[in-house]
Amino acid sequence: MTTNEEMIGRADVNDLEAILSITAHDVDEMVHAVKDNADCLFTWNYEKGERPALNKLYEKAKGAQWNGETDLPWHLDVDIEKIAANAPRDPDQDPVLVAATAPGGPLQNWGEKEWNQFIIESQNWTMSQFMHGEQGALVCTAKIVETVPWIDAKYYAATQVMDEARHVEVFAKYLDTKMEGHYPLNAHLGMLLDDIIQDHRWDMTYLGMQIMVEGLALAAFGFMHMLTEEPLLKQLLRYVMSDEARHVAFGVLSLKEYYGELTDAEMLERQEFAFEAAVRMRDRFLSQEVWDRMGVDVRTMVKLQLENEGDKNEDPFQQLLFSKIVPNCKKLGLLDRNDHWLRKKFAEMNVIQFEDWADTGEEYDTMSLEAMANEQGGTEVA
Ligand SMILES: [Fe+2]
Ligand SMILES: [Fe+2]
Repeated sequence: MTTNEEMIGRADVNDLEAILSITAHDVDEMVHAVKDNADCLFTWNYEKGERPALNKLYEKAKGAQWNGETDLPWHLDVDIEKIAANAPRDPDQDPVLVAATAPGGPLQNWGEKEWNQFIIESQNWTMSQFMHGEQGALVCTAKIVETVPWIDAKYYAATQVMDEARHVEVFAKYLDTKMEGHYPLNAHLGMLLDDIIQDHRWDMTYLGMQIMVEGLALAAFGFMHMLTEEPLLKQLLRYVMSDEARHVAFGVLSLKEYYGELTDAEMLERQEFAFEAAVRMRDRFLSQEVWDRMGVDVRTMVKLQLENEGDKNEDPFQQLLFSKIVPNCKKLGLLDRNDHWLRKKFAEMNVIQFEDWADTGEEYDTMSLEAMANEQGGTEVA
């Protein structure tokens, strides 16, 4: 059995030094090259609809395209300072912030100004990581067009390439026109994206991107969509979510067939990869770059986060991020093969409680733009 060291580069998931040693790519680089190690597969079987669920998804996707330039209310002003000033803040609810603001803690002297700035920086950082993650999805899906052997999947993946281009475009435009600058790609997320792209097996692109990264993104977008009262962002997120629900369904529907045929040894490799992805995504939420920009000692803050949340993962937001991933992994048979290997890992991460939540195989219909218009009684959504 593979050790933690081999899977994630450290024996202890919460090893502070190892986490801090993962640093960003050269931040001055403009282009980042990764070997994608895969065979490009042609198929001569053009039988459309051989996989009816994928065909249905493809037909849905063709009718669900939207235009990031013209369908969103870009004319609206976004007063980020005002939003930050009005944002609910309750450090007492968060054990990390309780520890950090206690006497002697790194945030003990923070006043109104620092908290406002922190909210603005966190928002910028979050949107920046979404933007970079969307580019990851763009290139992963382009890779799937090349590597998946089934024509229905190639057709569908082609529509997702267009969706992801639109997502990168709208997040980049929001950051560029409504906020100030953006953050570079987080090192942990970058490492995960590189690992996904480098893997030569076509299903690993799906597992890493559609199941893990997009599963988390769908939950994160939903959370932010629920909380934000900024109308442009709310609408942007709702539009993006209508696509993302389809993307996660694409992963579930494609892998369900394929994983049914894999041996225990092959499944274990997939379980380990899902675990690695989960750890990298947890690590990215340590948001080291924000602490750094706020002039706070990163080591102290990461240590506090690991001590207060690391093992127990008691933060409901962090847990909710796994609310799509866990049921989807269950549906794919990843939780329980090999003596419940991934179930045990998710139990240690305190996220197994989501296993019986709705999986995303069919959820895309309820999240579609059509459904959204009906919810709103056919009126323009704000
Ligand atoms: Fe996307
Ligand atoms: Fe996506």
